[in-house]
Formats: sequence, C-alpha cells, structure tokens
Amino acid sequence: MRLFLRALTVLGVFALLGLAALVGMAWWDSRLPRSYSAMDMGVLDYGGGPAQNHAAHPHLTVERLTGPANGRPDVRTTLVAAKKDDLWAFNGRVPGPEIHARQGDVVEVTLVNRDIDDGVTIHWHGVDVPNAEDGVAGVTQDAVMPGERYVYRFRAEQLGTFWYHSHQVSSRQVRRGLYGAFVILPTGPPSTGVDRTLIVHDFDGKPAFNEGVGGQRLAVPRGVHVRLRLVNSNNSPERISLTGTPFSVVGIDGTEVNGPTAIEDATLDVGAGARYDVAFDMPASPVRLGVDGSETALVLSGDGRADVEAPSELPTFDPATYGEPKRTVFDGARFDRTFELRIGKKIGFLDGRPGRHWSVNGKIFPDTPMYVVRRGDLVKVRIANESGAVHPMHLHGHHVLVLSRDGRPTTGSPWWTDTLDVAAGEEYEVAFRADNPGLWMDHCHNLPHAADGLTMHLMYEGVSTPFRIGGDDENHPE
Ligand code: C2O
Ligand code: CU
Repeated sequence: MRLFLRALTVLGVFALLGLAALVGMAWWDSRLPRSYSAMDMGVLDYGGGPAQNHAAHPHLTVERLTGPANGRPDVRTTLVAAKKDDLWAFNGRVPGPEIHARQGDVVEVTLVNRDIDDGVTIHWHGVDVPNAEDGVAGVTQDAVMPGERYVYRFRAEQLGTFWYHSHQVSSRQVRRGLYGAFVILPTGPPSTGVDRTLIVHDFDGKPAFNEGVGGQRLAVPRGVHVRLRLVNSNNSPERISLTGTPFSVVGIDGTEVNGPTAIEDATLDVGAGARYDVAFDMPASPVRLGVDGSETALVLSGDGRADVEAPSELPTFDPATYGEPKRTVFDGARFDRTFELRIGKKIGFLDGRPGRHWSVNGKIFPDTPMYVVRRGDLVKVRIANESGAVHPMHLHGHHVLVLSRDGRPTTGSPWWTDTLDVAAGEEYEVAFRADNPGLWMDHCHNLPHAADGLTMHLMYEGVSTPFRIGGDDENHPE
C-alpha cells in the first residue's frame, strides 16, 4: 500500500511537472518579438490553393514595393507629429489637416516626428497603396522616432473618402489625435456646392464632428448640392442620422455606389474606420445630421440659424440591398483560394500574458493565420463572428466585395468595403482579387481589440519583410 501511494505521488508530481512544462512552453512561444519574414509568425494557410514554392520565387522584400520614386508629385505636404496639450497632433491640429488629391495624382507626404516618444507612422486607411507606403510599424517600415522623418509616395488611384492615422501603437495614438481625412476628388473642374468631411471622434467620451462637440450650423442656400463625407475614427460603430431631406448614399469606404436611389430619414451605422458619403440638394427647410445619443449635430439651413430636434428611432440604412447591381469580376468566377476567418475567444497566453484572448480559427496571436496568396488569385473569405462582440474587420491594401451576409447574397450595388463591421453572430462571405503584392495586415479596427491580438496577415508568395515587431524592438503596430 505504501509503495502504491508513493508511486502515485511520484506520478502526480511528474504529471504536474509535465503540465507546468507545457504551460511554460506555451508562454515562451507566445512572446514577441518576431519577424514575419522568418515565417515563424502565423499559421500558414493556403486556402486550398497551392503551397508556397520558395524556389520559384526570387526573394522580394516589402521595401522594394514602393510607389513612384521619381518625378514631381502633384500633391506635396508635410505632417509634423507633436504633442499638443494633452493631445498628440499632426501640424498642431486634431484632426490633422485634410489632404485633398485628384484621381491619378502622385501624392508625397513627409512625416516628421517632433516629440512622440513611441515613434509614429502614417497608414493611408482604405487607400490601396503599394506595400512599402502602407505605414505599418514592424511590417512595412520602422516606426519614425523623435527627430526622424519618412517620405510616403503613391498614386491616388481611387475616388472618395479615406483617412490617415498612425499605425504605431495605434490603439493609443489614434485616440490621442494622430489622424486626419484624405479625400480623392474626380479630375475635371471642381464641383460647386458644399463638400465637407466630418470625422466622428470622441473627446473626453463625447463624440465630435471634427473638433466640435455639440451643435454646429451651416448656411446653405436652397438648391445647392451638398456632399457630406462621414468618417468614424472611434473604436465602436457610430449611428448617424440624417433627416429633413431625401438623400443618397453615394460612396462607401472610398468606392462610388452604383445607381444610388434617394432615401429619406435614415440612420447610417458607420462602423469603426468606415466611411459613408451622403449627398442631396439643399431643400428650403433645414437638414440635420446628428450622432445618435449625443448633442453633436450639424444643422444646415438657408440662414444658418435653424435649430432642429434630434429624431427618434429611424430605420437603419442597409448597404446589402442598396443601389443598382452591376457585373463584377467575381460573377460566376472560380475562386483560387477560400479562407476561413472564425473570430472567437480562447484561454491561453498573448505575448506572455495569460487570459481569455481573441482568437482566429482557434488560435491566439501571433499564431493567428497568415493567408498566403499568389498574385492574380481570386480569393474568397468566410468571416464568422462567434465572439459575442462586434468587430470591424479591415484588410490593408485591398477592397473586398461583400458577396453575402448570413447566407443571403447582396442584391444592390456592388458593395466594396475596406472595413466591414461584423456583428456578433454574423457571417459574411467576401471576395477580393490579389492584385497588390506585399505583406498586409488584416485586423479588427476596434484598435484595442487589435492590440489584444485580433490581428492577422495576408502574404503574397515570395514576399518578406526585414522589419520586426514586439519585445525590445520599437515597433508596435497595434
Ligand atoms: Cu486604419 Cu490597420 O488600420
Ligand atoms: Cu474587434
């Protein structure tokens, strides 16, 4: 009996030691820094397509995937990141200066970091720039430290409303003020009428339109064409209601809507990082655009003095059924790869921290998937949100076409998006063409979620990066 007990104790001790070793290994494995080029990052996922053939691919580093290197740019500007009272600002303003380009322009922006200790980068959210211009610390460049500068150059090929923000410690830096609007206008004579960008951002917990918390007014004569560009730089969806006129939703995430029809009195659910452009001709009576659940609103009226009450509950605009259908490259297409993106929660270690963390396909960052594609592939991604919270999923460098939501195909205008709000329990199928080689982040734009590991990457075959993230390295993109 004694012997048996002793044997049992010894066994128990070994079992415990074994368990401790396993947990210790999981802890050790979870720690950063890592490099994406070493391919020790992420679980390589080929989406049913061919595996990577290293031999067939000359080594291509992200640094070489630049925009046009030479020639005079059409738009040239400098953004200086610096502390400003308790905010961090570009050129002393929050939001930073609104940058305008025309479609086809070469844009050159010099980023200067005056005194932001953690370093800064600029990511052109929704602009499908060449990879080296994407501004992600540790993936496409090193963070720009105090006293340093970095030049971004790219051609503005798209049309519509975008924004820029730091992608170094972005969960803190965007909230603190390192962001601004980026608008690409059509070529040709400038449009007459009112064209305004309104970035919804919380200051001390209250949403503002640009820098203004509370009521704002604007005088607009009857008949004038008005375009309002709504950007949500917060971490959660903002419900924005437009009342007093029929209007159209003319742009979503920097893509024009095909055949927008007039709707009246509706609420737009603008996900974190997303943009909606609305347009109307100014009626004789006032028009109100307001952030639900707050005092913040813009009231347009002939004399600029009208007051309008906040509306009660309105129907929510649905991009899945809005506008006219139009052929896309995906009609009847055979997909080269199909990926799963199942968002959940899991107990484990994140960079050495134990807890119940976000997971993708059952794995915690950095073991979340690394999707591998080949240039030219038609790619489908099935997104399922089993995590109980809303996640605005943002793929860098590409726009995705929404094919279906909860099994129902979209029926309206092709719905191209770069930041798709996936609510708890929802399932989407999206598609994109792999036409922008590089190493691209794919993450939740609730930036604290990204910082807590809701981050993964898309890698083109043969592409690698010399940059590193985490640990003693200065790069912390999230
Ligand atoms: Cu607006 Cu990866 O970000
Ligand atoms: Cu999220």
